[in-house]
Amino acid sequence: MCGIVGYVGPREATPIIVEGLKRLEYRGYDSAGLAVIQDGRIEVRRDVGKLANLERMLVESPVGGNIGIGHTRWATHGAPCPRNAHPHVDCRGEVVVIHNGIVENFLSLRQELAAEGHRFTSETDTETIPHLVEKYLAEGGDLEGAVRRALGRIKGAHAVVVMSSREPDRIVAARLGNAGGVVVGLGEGEMFLASDVLAILEYTRRVIFLEDGQMAVITQEGARFTTLDGQRVAKEAYAVPWDPISAAKGAYKHFMQKEIYEQARSITDTIRGRVDFEAGQVCLDGLGISPEGAQAIERMFIVACGTSAYSALVGKFMIESLARIPVEVDYGSEFRYRDPLINERTLVLALTQSGETVDTLAAMEEARSKGARLLSIVNVIGSQAARMSDGVIYMQAGPEIGVASTKAFTASLVDQYLLALHLGKLRGLIDSARMKELVEHLAELPNLVGRVLGNGNDYDALAAKYFKRENFLYLGRGINYPIALEGALKLKEISYIHAEGYPAGEMKHGPIALIDERMPVVAIAVRDSVYEKMVSQIEQVKARGGIVIALATEGDEAIAGKADHVIHVPPTSPLLSPVVNVVPLQLLAYFIAVRRGCDVDQPRNLAKSVTVE
Ligand code: G6P
Repeated sequence: MCGIVGYVGPREATPIIVEGLKRLEYRGYDSAGLAVIQDGRIEVRRDVGKLANLERMLVESPVGGNIGIGHTRWATHGAPCPRNAHPHVDCRGEVVVIHNGIVENFLSLRQELAAEGHRFTSETDTETIPHLVEKYLAEGGDLEGAVRRALGRIKGAHAVVVMSSREPDRIVAARLGNAGGVVVGLGEGEMFLASDVLAILEYTRRVIFLEDGQMAVITQEGARFTTLDGQRVAKEAYAVPWDPISAAKGAYKHFMQKEIYEQARSITDTIRGRVDFEAGQVCLDGLGISPEGAQAIERMFIVACGTSAYSALVGKFMIESLARIPVEVDYGSEFRYRDPLINERTLVLALTQSGETVDTLAAMEEARSKGARLLSIVNVIGSQAARMSDGVIYMQAGPEIGVASTKAFTASLVDQYLLALHLGKLRGLIDSARMKELVEHLAELPNLVGRVLGNGNDYDALAAKYFKRENFLYLGRGINYPIALEGALKLKEISYIHAEGYPAGEMKHGPIALIDERMPVVAIAVRDSVYEKMVSQIEQVKARGGIVIALATEGDEAIAGKADHVIHVPPTSPLLSPVVNVVPLQLLAYFIAVRRGCDVDQPRNLAKSVTVE
């Protein structure tokens, strides 16, 4: 969850590191620091709070040098305070470390090292690493060898980056397990390191990802890759298709706002290259599933976390309807511990924007070990989930920076629709005429989303009325029930208002007790097969004095007589209606959070990519 940046080359390292950390700050952190080798000595600067605090410190006390590492921390061991911020140094100030992950055996290591005379200055688990490296350096050998030995002692999953004034031309980095990525960026006569490509996109788009159990040594001249036991590994560079401008805020006030408003375009990008509208075909041949393979699938699991898990719940409707495969959706954190019933006729789909969420990755490993075929829908190119899958569908949504996911959600809905069509076709369930009709619904989607976005100001007016409320209820049915969950999640994530999403039919079994004149209820009541049922839920809310904000299909004037407010959305095909219906709920959450003065892009306690269990 922590951000990592490193640089070695002819330029000043500090501004590159600070800029890189800025690009990662969206992930949500509590302290930041950097270390640079200046005139042969390691200089460390670190502070709590946002990166701006570190920047101020660097103005008062600048550091210069051509090699350095930087870090933004999300506290696990030890409160956020300057001494617990990374980088951490050894006793002599010759070894400096930044780290993502948890040293699970840090207590015993700390005792051992303290008994040997090492002095600790923080409460962190990370600080054991520079002392271990110091210890092994003192026993002879070079930095790389000492890091190797230190890594052999620590338990858990880690991304570790080490620098030493004894060998001031290099940075050693390693990845053990799934504690977050380590990316090496290849420049001309300079090299970069980062936890996430966004940090270095401005300098290079040629990157190499470390796999579990791999190390990299980078110098100005290049990078060398090995396994933890020292075997050389040949690695291929990826060309990242994102451009740096797509990762900038532009004229928008917040990244989340930009990402919501980008959705007409990002959905077009998601569809691009995958659908032949004239021939009525979906092209996902890269997944490598044959018609026989598709026929043989007995069941599917979709594993995901957070917003992605709600997207998966919509995917279940799409796949069951179009491909007639039974689908179960599971949180990554649950799936991995419940001994799921999987065999080689099971298809497991992992859905993850970042491709680095540790619980989703662990669920994938569980599925793989039981013989399932593994697919993933991922946004971040080359991320761990993509690399460990048998087939990948990239969301093609472009970088998503706001912690609360929006455009990746709609992209993943579209991707699941494409997958459902692909599997349905392979299983002989969709003939050409029907396929043509089903892809036509996709063709109109960007335009429909664009129409909803055009009414942005209406949501602000609604937000102005209700932003002081402390509770919200969201109701939906059928394929729009997950959209009620997602609407509630968006609101609670960024505005800190307590919000619950419920399948509308369940309201009478509990939440109805909460309804009174202070409770706004957002009801997704578009014209579909459960419309009448939704209308009767609205009646029940009104009968108890609740405030109803109804999401209704354009042209439905009848609902205005029943609800307090109506948000109109254009009609869509039932399977794609969640893509359109979620957008007003994103906007409502956004405007409410802005009116409450919340930090929309970096909500408290949340992180964009969750690499701890
Ligand atoms: C975090 C983020 C959420 C995201 C979830 C899953 O909790 O704050 O916005 O939905 O992780 O992330 P993934 O990258 O796996 O989709």
